[in-house]
Amino acid sequence: MSHSMPELIGTKRDGGSLSAEQLEWIIAQYTADQIPDYQISAFLMAVIFRGMTDDELAAWTDAMLHSGDVLDLSSTALPKIDKHSTGGVGDKISIPLAPLVAACGVAIPMMSGRGLGHTGGTLDKLETIPGFKTRLDPEAFTRQLDELGLVLAGQSETLVPADRRIYALRDASGTVPAIPLIASSIMSKKLAEDLDGLVLDVKIGSGAFMKDVASGTALAETMVSIGRSHDTPVVGFLTDMDQPLGREVGNANEMVESIAVLRGEGPPDTTELTMVLGAEMLVLAGVAAGRSDARAQLDAAVRSGAGLDVFARVITAQGGNPAVLEDPTLLPTAAHTHTVTATRGGYVERCDALAVGRSAVRLGAGRQAKEDAIDPGVGITVHAKVGDAVTESDPVATVRYNTEDQLNACLPVLESAWVLSETPQQPVPLILGEVS
Ligand code: URA
Repeated sequence: MSHSMPELIGTKRDGGSLSAEQLEWIIAQYTADQIPDYQISAFLMAVIFRGMTDDELAAWTDAMLHSGDVLDLSSTALPKIDKHSTGGVGDKISIPLAPLVAACGVAIPMMSGRGLGHTGGTLDKLETIPGFKTRLDPEAFTRQLDELGLVLAGQSETLVPADRRIYALRDASGTVPAIPLIASSIMSKKLAEDLDGLVLDVKIGSGAFMKDVASGTALAETMVSIGRSHDTPVVGFLTDMDQPLGREVGNANEMVESIAVLRGEGPPDTTELTMVLGAEMLVLAGVAAGRSDARAQLDAAVRSGAGLDVFARVITAQGGNPAVLEDPTLLPTAAHTHTVTATRGGYVERCDALAVGRSAVRLGAGRQAKEDAIDPGVGITVHAKVGDAVTESDPVATVRYNTEDQLNACLPVLESAWVLSETPQQPVPLILGEVS
């Protein structure tokens, strides 16, 4: 049956709900290029304000999931578990986590996304590795999973094409932060991976799409329940995103820090979160007796270099140069650096993830329009995080940039990120809750 897109937009705008058939029609027509971007953007904006009922969300997610092929990974003998984050600033966890977990005997068919809004994307970070390809056809995807236990890819043309297109459109049309849109985007991709279990990292705070624990919990519960209705066990962790994760923000910057985590030399918060999420993956996979056994296995994979080894093999299989693991100077870099200093002494009360994320986008690390290319070598190193003491003129950040225009656009936002206090400040807790 055919529908009028302006009428469907109007129904949603005015608080009505759409039938499963109408929602399937929207996804099918948009995927077939029969609905222009401006109408889908208007529809998505109506969803931002009006939300979706449970029935609408189930139908929308299913339509996205079946907008293309669904992987059949039954040939993979190992348990298949993935992890996905709702997006944050400096959130590079997937990169060190996936090889470590794969090294412990779990298969990870990881399909990731690009940067969205002020948050970075795993694909953009992986593509800083010279030659690394994130587009694999389903056959190559399955073969690599069987051989190496890990694939780090984006959605190909045929896997969840609706999300690939809607995701890019949401990024450029201010239509990211709505629970049904985030939940359907993530879960359609993850369910297409034919998983035995999924660990979700739901970010909460200024740099996340969910700003408080209540909305983060609602998002996590929505995704857990979508998983349940597809017989896929899902565990969601609520984690802090009020300040950037780790010290590096920007694509090549974050790849360097990811490699450090794999070597056991990463910053404490990034390492801890990698271990917490990774341990849950091992437990879900049934390859660890409990969380402490899982942690011990992951620690051993760091110490023995087994995680680095898996990453090297995956990089080679996907056309990249594994020498970056030994020599991170092979990654792209920017021509210039600029140091941001503390305007006075004190203790860091706030290092605002949103301001750091937005300034990274202004530098060129993320996209302002759907077609924008990112600048892989630009980024920000954060020297002062919540609880740190600084004296006047201490460096709080180092900016890597290529043009003065980039720097001038970035600095006013970046400099507003730090709030200093006269009194000592406690570091913020990293794990804020759990939903399963
Ligand atoms: N990650 C996704 O894959 N989709 C979203 O909408 C947000 C984060």
